[in-house]
Amino acid sequence: MEGICKTFPGVKALDNVNLSVRRGTVHALMGENGAGKSTLMKCLFGVYSKDAGHIYLDGKEIDFKNSKEALENGVAMVHQELNQALKRNVMDNMWLGRFPKVAKWCPLTSESKMYAATKALFDELEVSVDPKMIMSRMPVSQRQMVEIAKAVSFHSKIIVFDEPTSSLTEQEVEHLFRIINSLRDKGCGIIYISHKMEEILRISDDVTIMRDGQWIATRPAKELTMNEIIRLMVGRELTNRYPEKDNVVGEPMLEVKNLTAEYSALKDVSFVARKGEVLGIAGLDGSGRTELLENIFGIATKKSGEIYLHGKRVMNRSARESLKNKFAMLTEERRATGIFGIRDIQANTCISSLNRYKNGPFLSDKKMKKATEWGIQAMRTKTPSQSTQIQTLSGGNQQKVILARWLLTEPEVLLLDEPTRGIDVGAKYEIYQLILNMAKEGKTVLMVSSEMPELLGVCDRILVMSGGRLAGEVDAKNTTQEEIMTLAAKYV
Ligand SMILES: Nc1ncnc2c1ncn2[C@@H]1O[C@H](COP(=O)(O)OP(=O)(O)OP(=O)(O)O)[C@@H](O)[C@H]1O
Ligand SMILES: [Mg+2]
Repeated sequence: MEGICKTFPGVKALDNVNLSVRRGTVHALMGENGAGKSTLMKCLFGVYSKDAGHIYLDGKEIDFKNSKEALENGVAMVHQELNQALKRNVMDNMWLGRFPKVAKWCPLTSESKMYAATKALFDELEVSVDPKMIMSRMPVSQRQMVEIAKAVSFHSKIIVFDEPTSSLTEQEVEHLFRIINSLRDKGCGIIYISHKMEEILRISDDVTIMRDGQWIATRPAKELTMNEIIRLMVGRELTNRYPEKDNVVGEPMLEVKNLTAEYSALKDVSFVARKGEVLGIAGLDGSGRTELLENIFGIATKKSGEIYLHGKRVMNRSARESLKNKFAMLTEERRATGIFGIRDIQANTCISSLNRYKNGPFLSDKKMKKATEWGIQAMRTKTPSQSTQIQTLSGGNQQKVILARWLLTEPEVLLLDEPTRGIDVGAKYEIYQLILNMAKEGKTVLMVSSEMPELLGVCDRILVMSGGRLAGEVDAKNTTQEEIMTLAAKYV
């Protein structure tokens, strides 16, 4: 890709960017949220048309009009945001737009061919998913694996992975890396976007770093260190990855007793969270971490058990009731459950705290502007204005808006499911700071994360879930990753 430029209203997303990917290598693309990584890839994939520049594949100039053309000509892409037909099954999603026919002369779709092809591909890639499973019934991580298998199924020369691991478990990440390595051995060129430094240094041959829509550097991965990458990305030195912890843990605030879910494996979970405490929740995927938060917040049905806030029983039968009881929750799948795509930043920021902006019977635009401005500043959200549609922001910046939304509800108990997923290193620090500030103000924060260093760096205590049950509780100051992993495997 040579001299690629792309402007959106109010944003120069790409400014003369170059990228050259060698056959049989993994090329990492890095940069802060909003740097232009996804946009560059969408120009390649035919989702956006570039304003200027040239793209060559095997020496031949290409300019795809849409993603179908890209797929037919050797370029596949796993998008940052899953966009699947959730009510259809796995194989329908795999073959959408290219269903195998019963026979040349018969345009009907052959279910059996589709099943056999899916099964064969899954076997080859060692993906253990039933091709007939309905998408919505599977955890996000498995859906992501389906998306990855789909991209591989086109036998492309170039495969783009835009943050493929943001919702994968550690095991699945290893699995993906095996797939990527075999694609590399077959001579594929792989473009890999991720905010996880450790991954980048492990998997990539070359690294290209972008900042504010511009190309900054391309280097062999071997010559780069984590600090060097961060410096190139952020444009300054970043000394600490975690802020100073100065929250004071006080009296019990939230008490959960024998919580058992109706429709998931969550069973008999009891714990106490204190005022001013950041309580981490660790565990493997499927261990019930998300379900625990969902049951507390009332977006999943409780079978039995009790929840107390300040010693008073709360029912939390729905999100609305929970909000009223001063609970707030940032969900794991923000795209599906948190974003009003065509509404602007202000609406998306203020929607859950409208009673704060009342002016008599009306909503005060001025108050909403002020709150939104606070969110944008606190989180350093990259947006042209408050009236920008949220769906035009980069993935990481959309998340910052949603996080600001929940902070503005001024909850007593803040439930966060993977709060820094897809957020760049610099912005992570700010989010940690906000979490600790909440704790310092005397709130209780429950935080699920798959990144163990993050739990150790931010939390006071960590609950470890395993097989739907509470396997143990550790003090973040005096524990190790090994101890947590051992507990996480207790009921598997
Ligand atoms: N469809 C669009 N309309 C308007 N602006 C857009 C659109 N798509 C992207 N942008 C803007 O282009 C810039 C680059 O966004 P892009 O999604 O490429 O960032 P990114 O590097 O992928 O970030 P992240 O790590 O958060 O995914 C951002 O400022 C974003 O707001
Ligand atoms: Mg992106």
